[in-house]
Amino acid sequence: MADSIRIDTLVRENIKNLKPYRSARDDFDTGLLLDANENSLGAPVRNSLQLHRYPSPVQNNLRKKIAEWRGVDVENIFLGVGSDEPIDLLMRIFCNPGKDSIIITPPTYGMYKVSASINDVIVKEVLLDEKFQLRTAETLATADQSTKLLFLCSPNNPTSNDLKRTDILKLITAFPGIVVVDEAYIDFSRQESMAAMVQQYPNLVVLQTFSKSFGLAGIRLGIALSNPHIIQYMLKVKAPYNINKLTADVAMNAFENLDLMKFNLNKIREERQYVAEQLSQSDDVEKVYPSDSNFLLFKIKNAENIYRKLAEKGIIVRYRGNEPLCENCLRVTIGMPDENIRFLKTLKEVLS
Ligand SMILES: Cc1ncc(COP(=O)(O)O)c(C=O)c1O
Repeated sequence: MADSIRIDTLVRENIKNLKPYRSARDDFDTGLLLDANENSLGAPVRNSLQLHRYPSPVQNNLRKKIAEWRGVDVENIFLGVGSDEPIDLLMRIFCNPGKDSIIITPPTYGMYKVSASINDVIVKEVLLDEKFQLRTAETLATADQSTKLLFLCSPNNPTSNDLKRTDILKLITAFPGIVVVDEAYIDFSRQESMAAMVQQYPNLVVLQTFSKSFGLAGIRLGIALSNPHIIQYMLKVKAPYNINKLTADVAMNAFENLDLMKFNLNKIREERQYVAEQLSQSDDVEKVYPSDSNFLLFKIKNAENIYRKLAEKGIIVRYRGNEPLCENCLRVTIGMPDENIRFLKTLKEVLS
């Protein structure tokens, strides 16, 4: 079966038949632009970005830049408002509300479940094992004809570790639907990105974001990488001008400064090592989990109480003790060196 036909069998009928919104800008973006009811006199704020004009609906320049960086083609790239948008679009493209299901592997990132609930999509859960790795056989056994998407997160939030590449590949080849690998934290990891593999596996979608390694959570820019057929569906369903000009401009500029980004990544890795070592020295800390991300998960006696006491002293971490397999666990983001010292010092005070 041709790959595109196989994908089509998974797509909702209404999406297959959807006539997408089209503007004149899809065909022309130069000339006397009197097509889009913009305010030709301009904005009351000074700007050099022609902000009185709508942004490009397809963002080819930025997509090209990202494609080069990840070693894929521009046709493999979709840009969304954070990772939230591609997650939501995948639900809307593949899952019939009230009928279809997805599989998630808790403890994992909470947004997959929230997005499924918003879209009235059934969520099936297959817990990670005690080493926070995938249970591939159970995952495959849980899939049925209604299961359209499998969400994997590597490195995983909140457990901070990479999922084994061999397990992910096993699932990609055997799962009957689309496998979404969320690589929000991949640049902090020793593992390579799976981005280029979207050219090999037609049912693979890789999610990445500018919010973590690029340090640009404020611009809300997420990336989905996949085969051109799935990318075309995502482009068809998205809001016409989802990526605004300010976001696109900052993201383009970020590529001028990749050396600084890489320097910061190394610094975060060094700091992660330092904070992990310091935490391990405390008698109250039962375990610091190995991290491939920009945060640490650690098990500590009376975690919820510690979390509250830290917050009273102005140090905000995340209590993850309600997640399966994460009893008494806190999650702390690696901060600036002085912030990490402040966190460790305050934790010591709270524990004394
Ligand atoms: C695994 C994972 N994916 C995605 C995101 C959110 O990314 P974005 O800021 O692009 O929406 C997060 C944020 O914490 C995350 O942990």
